[in-house]
Amino acid sequence: MLPYSPYSSISFLLSSLSIFAAVLLVDVALAGDPFVYLDWDVSYISVSPLGVKQQVIGINGQFPGPVMNVTTNWNAVMNIRNNLDEPFLVTWNGLQQRKNSWQDGVLGTNCPIPPGWNWTYEFQVKDQIGSFFYCPSINFQKAAGGYGGIIVNNRDVIPLPFGTPDGDIMIFISDWYTKGYKELRKTLEDGNDLGIPDGVLFNGLGPYRYNESIVPDGITYEKINVEPGKTYRIRVHNVGISTSLNFRIQNHNLLLVETEGSYTVQQNYTNMDIHVGQSYSFLVTMDQNASSDYYMVASARFVSPDTRNRVTGVAILHYSNSQGSASGPLPDGPDEADTYFSMNQARSIRWNVSAGAARPNPQGSFRYGDITVTDVYVLLNKPAELINGQLRTTLNAISYVAPSTPLKLAQQFNVPGVYKLDFPNRMMNRPAKFDTSIINGTYKGFTEIIFQNNDSTVQSYHMDGYAFFVVG
Ligand SMILES: *[C@@H]1O[C@H](CO)[C@@H](O)[C@H](O)[C@H]1NC(C)=O
Ligand SMILES: *[C@@H]1O[C@H](CO)[C@@H](O)[C@H](O)[C@H]1NC(C)=O
Ligand SMILES: *[C@@H]1O[C@H](CO)[C@@H](O)[C@H](O)[C@H]1NC(C)=O
Ligand SMILES: *[C@@H]1O[C@H](CO)[C@@H](O)[C@H](O)[C@H]1NC(C)=O
Ligand SMILES: *[C@@H]1O[C@H](CO)[C@@H](O)[C@H](O)[C@H]1NC(C)=O
Ligand SMILES: *[C@@H]1O[C@H](CO)[C@@H](O)[C@H](O)[C@H]1NC(C)=O
Ligand SMILES: *[C@@H]1O[C@H](CO)[C@@H](O)[C@H](O)[C@H]1NC(C)=O
Ligand SMILES: *[C@@H]1O[C@H](CO)[C@@H](O)[C@H](O)[C@H]1NC(C)=O
Repeated sequence: MLPYSPYSSISFLLSSLSIFAAVLLVDVALAGDPFVYLDWDVSYISVSPLGVKQQVIGINGQFPGPVMNVTTNWNAVMNIRNNLDEPFLVTWNGLQQRKNSWQDGVLGTNCPIPPGWNWTYEFQVKDQIGSFFYCPSINFQKAAGGYGGIIVNNRDVIPLPFGTPDGDIMIFISDWYTKGYKELRKTLEDGNDLGIPDGVLFNGLGPYRYNESIVPDGITYEKINVEPGKTYRIRVHNVGISTSLNFRIQNHNLLLVETEGSYTVQQNYTNMDIHVGQSYSFLVTMDQNASSDYYMVASARFVSPDTRNRVTGVAILHYSNSQGSASGPLPDGPDEADTYFSMNQARSIRWNVSAGAARPNPQGSFRYGDITVTDVYVLLNKPAELINGQLRTTLNAISYVAPSTPLKLAQQFNVPGVYKLDFPNRMMNRPAKFDTSIINGTYKGFTEIIFQNNDSTVQSYHMDGYAFFVVG
């Protein structure tokens, strides 16, 4: 079993920004591709998902924020106004940004929007399909919400590799703390652990009271209304900070059809481990007798049973002909003693290469197996250690420091000394250090990145700005 320590993945998110791939392509938006215009107002709103009133980040007053629903090749023009009291930066997780690649919403390529200011992003969702989400990328604001869904639909001329679902349901699951994000941020900056989350939210709401001694009274929970016999596409995103969650729906199969922008070989699962940052689409058929409502569960993985009771989200699946409320114990998740379950499940997912539009790789080939790999990087992380008296995690023994001059500006105007293009392609036998050390990518090259987790907790990476494919 893996000990639970959210600290390392937090600062890890910071250090992973050093994977600044210089492999950027320019694509010209085709005239004729439609434009969608969105106006988003980012502000604090007050909610009490776990019964404790707290300030979260809402988009247009909503938590979770509005869904960006577009179709392959559409152009999105998004005017975002920051009404927070500090800079805000939003990243379009999974979108490839092949036009205006610097608008990917991470420090280094993209400046934050100062408080009281607005900024208009414009990019094309070129050659993409799938389910993604956006979220804040700096200042630990992700722990306060600010997220929402992104749907990229197939163009009409490209058929779905399954029958058109009867409905589309968006689910966000996340670990959650009742402390505000600024307090959590300070805890981390002081070198302390965040401790165990206070709960798991389903679409920004606390758990259904499935057990009176575990869930307090008066919590508003999520209820998903469905019609018997219909099949829904359920898009599930883990938008949390560091907790891997097992997602399941009582008595219902989850037919996996898509993940991270690729259609998969279709397979049934009774539950799915969804790690931080991951997005999955399942087809779920309402094929049960509705003798009662059904539980939808997202429970923490790799924790003790006591912790899991607390760190479990529960929503309700309600058939229109339901005979009563859900009761009794929650459906079981995977056997926690089965150390390899999660890895084996991930490996059971196969890309359906004949589904959807063919997407050539940047070397112009449709054959991914024949790619010429130009660079190989082994990125190794270890438990946090003290560097100059500060507790930090590292990649290849380097803890990334964001420079005051943005990387892209430094590059554009040849400002010396802002960054170094010397990020090592493997672990170096030298003490850990702070640095602004960047990968020297090869233009139009193909980089193989191998992650080696030498920590004792699960790590998740935000691979930003370009097309990444899991190959092993
Ligand atoms: C997204 O937009 C399409 C039309 O472009 C519509 O058919 C679909 O219902 C919308 N989906 C959601 C989840 O809003
Ligand atoms: C700010 O928003 C206004 C409209 O509210 C818009 O006209 C202007 O272009 C926006 N500015 C930027 C930099 O996006
Ligand atoms: C893969 O996609 C093709 C094309 O849409 C579809 O016909 C086929 O059923 C899919 N295969 C599996 C195993 O899901
Ligand atoms: C509620 O949870 C407690 C603590 O885990 C357990 O002892 C009890 O049996 C549960 N009650 C029901 C009705 O399941
Ligand atoms: C998945 O399970 C459903 C029942 O819930 C069944 O009808 C369907 O045939 C299964 N599909 C696959 C590909 O196993
Ligand atoms: C409905 O399904 C449940 C679970 O499969 C079963 O236990 C129950 O007896 C069924 N009820 C009716 C009225 O068919
Ligand atoms: C980066 O790589 C290019 C060629 O791949 C090379 O010419 C250049 O010297 C490298 N820059 C540094 C700072 O190592
Ligand atoms: C990483 O872990 C492996 C396996 O436990 C160990 O052999 C190796 O020395 C570790 N490397 C570092 C740099 O800590």
